[in-house]
Amino acid sequence: MGIASLHPSYALNPKRIERGLGRANYRQMAVPSHLNNSQERTMGFYNDIILPRLCDLAMRNKQLLPFRERVIGAAEGRVLEIGVGSGRNLPFYRAPVREVMALEPAPRLIMMARRASRATSMPISFIEASAEAIPLDQHSVDTIVTTLTLCSIPHADVALADMRRVLRPGGKLLFVEHGLAPDEAVRWWQHRLTPVWRRFSGGCHLNRPIRSLIEGAGFSIDRIETGYIPGPKPMTFMYEGNARPK
Ligand SMILES: C[S@@+](CC[C@H](N)C(=O)[O-])C[C@H]1O[C@@H](n2cnc3c(N)ncnc32)[C@H](O)[C@@H]1O
Repeated sequence: MGIASLHPSYALNPKRIERGLGRANYRQMAVPSHLNNSQERTMGFYNDIILPRLCDLAMRNKQLLPFRERVIGAAEGRVLEIGVGSGRNLPFYRAPVREVMALEPAPRLIMMARRASRATSMPISFIEASAEAIPLDQHSVDTIVTTLTLCSIPHADVALADMRRVLRPGGKLLFVEHGLAPDEAVRWWQHRLTPVWRRFSGGCHLNRPIRSLIEGAGFSIDRIETGYIPGPKPMTFMYEGNARPK
């Protein structure tokens, strides 16, 4: 689940770190241009106010806690977290993590994550940007974390290629994502539900083939575990693992 229809018009500009894009720019990108003023206001309100709260609510799901603990527990060094959302992973970071750079395009989610970051002594900085154009140097991070984010990034292939660019050789991509299920009947529903589902869920695709997306971006997978968690099957087929740049 994520923020709808963001498009990567971000340049690799260090000034966007911390200061980031203004809210007005974010809204322009998040609201389609063909809408009239009142539709635009309604959608802007939904995207800016309702969606971040829904995202936070969904991400409080207790079933996700063991995934978060395992994935974050494998992070080390200088970490880039992609789509930090309301910061549900932040309490789990420990040494050997040195610092966390939390990338997130939605200003309101950054506000929530900032609040969550106050409960930890880990150095955390925020980058208001899209994962499709990460404003960091090549090979500058040791670990990248993505949890339940690849489903909503509009161009997940572009984002993964940029993650590969900023990850140092031998660095780790740690992921837990939901995505395309192996069962034909479940896939049928995933393909049919996605066009409607993504409109209300911040661009979330139920049918992303997570493994092949990661491999297709030039990573080799060291470990992957898959399976359903309790809940409606089209939404709950999980992929957890780690990968390295090839
Ligand atoms: C379901 S939430 C998951 C939040 C968080 N990763 C967690 O596990 O709690 C999906 C996140 O993806 C983010 N997102 C959407 N498009 C993005 C993009 N282009 N680049 C980075 N993050 C994006 C959303 O803003 C949202 O925070």
